[in-house]
Amino acid sequence: MLTNDSYELLRRLASPLVAVTSAHEGRTNGMILDSAIRASISPEHPRLSVYIHKWHLTHDLVWASGRFGAHLLTVDQFELVHQLGFRSGRKVRDKLAGLPHRIGGSGVPLLESCHAAFECRVVNTMDAGPSTLFLAEVEATHAGTTGTLLTADYFRAHLPEAWQEEFLKNYREAQERIRDLAAVRDVRRWGGPTTP
Ligand SMILES: Cc1cc2nc3c(=O)[nH]c(=O)nc-3n(C[C@H](O)[C@H](O)[C@H](O)COP(=O)(O)O)c2cc1C
Repeated sequence: MLTNDSYELLRRLASPLVAVTSAHEGRTNGMILDSAIRASISPEHPRLSVYIHKWHLTHDLVWASGRFGAHLLTVDQFELVHQLGFRSGRKVRDKLAGLPHRIGGSGVPLLESCHAAFECRVVNTMDAGPSTLFLAEVEATHAGTTGTLLTADYFRAHLPEAWQEEFLKNYREAQERIRDLAAVRDVRRWGGPTTP
């Protein structure tokens, strides 16, 4: 089943589309996700979290390097979403090729064209079954272009006809993988807060 009424409502609970970039031992890559969330209300300890499926190349690069770049996008960046979010870097030699970017102070690739770029350092992880939840400290922020943020809802509603088949095929394949990986294996119970 690709979707149902309940999942369509849950789908509304999505972040803007975020381009996540990563680098490890000379290999760079990028992907798209809509599962990023601000994880702190403190400007002194800015944090965000992302869920990344375990089979993505980005997953391995973030896991190994402990760092990633997160970029907010605007509604005119459909091509970038297609380049990073439709095919894995395991199949494409260099997904960042042709996308203007530079390497930030923390070593992660930073896209030149975006609303904002965050350089993130992983501070904790959690096994979430098909994906890993990465909690990260935002170590540097770069403001970019203005414009309306690109959300998952907007992207799906305006998906070009020519990309629809590929989008659905990817979705179906991901759901098949999720079925096999649904169980959370590493269930570690947090002991709760301790008095400082
Ligand atoms: C609109 C959209 C939303 C996506 N959201 C997520 C997500 O939240 N988590 C995830 O792991 N993959 C998500 N993906 C899928 C990855 O971006 C995609 O599979 C990508 O090719 C993985 O690249 P990699 O293997 O090179 O890392 C999304 C893709 C699109 C197009």
